[in-house]
Amino acid sequence: MPIKRDGEFVTFGQHIQQQQQNFPQAKGQFSWLMSGITLATKMIAAYVRRAGLIDVWGDEGSVNVQGEAVKKLDIIANDALKRTLGYRGNVGIIASEEDNEPRVLQDVDSDDSYIVMFDPLDGSSNIDVNVSVGTIFTIFRNPPEIEGAEKSVLQPGINQVAAGYVLYGSSTVLVYTCGNGVHQFTLDPQFGAYLLTREDMKMPEHAGVYSVNEAYLHRFPPSYQRYLEWSKDPEGGGFSSRYVGSLVADFHRILVKGGIFLYPPTAAHSGGKLRLMYECNPLAFVAEQAGGVALGAGGKRVMELEPQGIHDRTPLVIGSRKNVDEAMRFLG
Ligand code: AHG
Ligand code: MN
Ligand code: MN
Repeated sequence: MPIKRDGEFVTFGQHIQQQQQNFPQAKGQFSWLMSGITLATKMIAAYVRRAGLIDVWGDEGSVNVQGEAVKKLDIIANDALKRTLGYRGNVGIIASEEDNEPRVLQDVDSDDSYIVMFDPLDGSSNIDVNVSVGTIFTIFRNPPEIEGAEKSVLQPGINQVAAGYVLYGSSTVLVYTCGNGVHQFTLDPQFGAYLLTREDMKMPEHAGVYSVNEAYLHRFPPSYQRYLEWSKDPEGGGFSSRYVGSLVADFHRILVKGGIFLYPPTAAHSGGKLRLMYECNPLAFVAEQAGGVALGAGGKRVMELEPQGIHDRTPLVIGSRKNVDEAMRFLG
């Protein structure tokens, strides 16, 4: 695993260039697009690191299309991504969890045009209490033969060209895949660059940890209740539990250490809470590339779900392969 030593490191830009050489899906303009995402996330990281010193705590005062209170940092993060991607000529359409509609940036005149979708700030209710938050992104080709932004973005996750997230945690890490393994970069605050810190990551096949908002237990379907009972029973799974409440942070722990994350249907969100396009698809792509599994509505593979609307939600079961198999004996 290449770890930075004096004068020896791989930047994210270098890595993308190398990927392009042996990966025809990633064309020349792709690194220019990705540099828009890295620049925006460095800007967001700078705001997150100064939370409390500058005015980024608290609600902005409005409610978004998801019916959730918009935080000041949601707006800052959304604007940063829209601004940086707006200058990338090959980004045809962007769609954000925070905006009602996808936005067309450029008309499609080549097959090298992309759609970028993002959750600008995931776990935003954690920002005021110094708990990790993140940015999730996914990239699709912008099909020239389809007219209309909404129709163009309604693609299943298997069409993703690249996806990943940035976790603003104890350090800032960027994790991405373009279908050729999962790679992690850490933002070196001295250099201002993302440097390779984990290459070709593989999720452990099983770990005795589940991650779920268990306060909703009595509002979960009985099959989930039985699974969770079994998980914590010393005679059953004998699991431990971890729940941050920022999906990116909960997922990243599972990517590195293994385990399972569940957001079941609840009384409040009978179709699940998490967003298919901005949250579940990108993490499913990363999970599968690392050897994990991601299942959504009806126990189907997340990446095969056909979106009906850009803000669709789905229940989510994601994590280590054997953990998910084990869970499906109860949920299937
Ligand atoms: P967002 O901040 O982008 O709206 O996402 C919040 C999500 C996700 O990060 C987390 O896993 C989940 O909401 C937590 O929901 P509960 O508070 O219902 O557990
Ligand atoms: Mn989110
Ligand atoms: Mn969000």
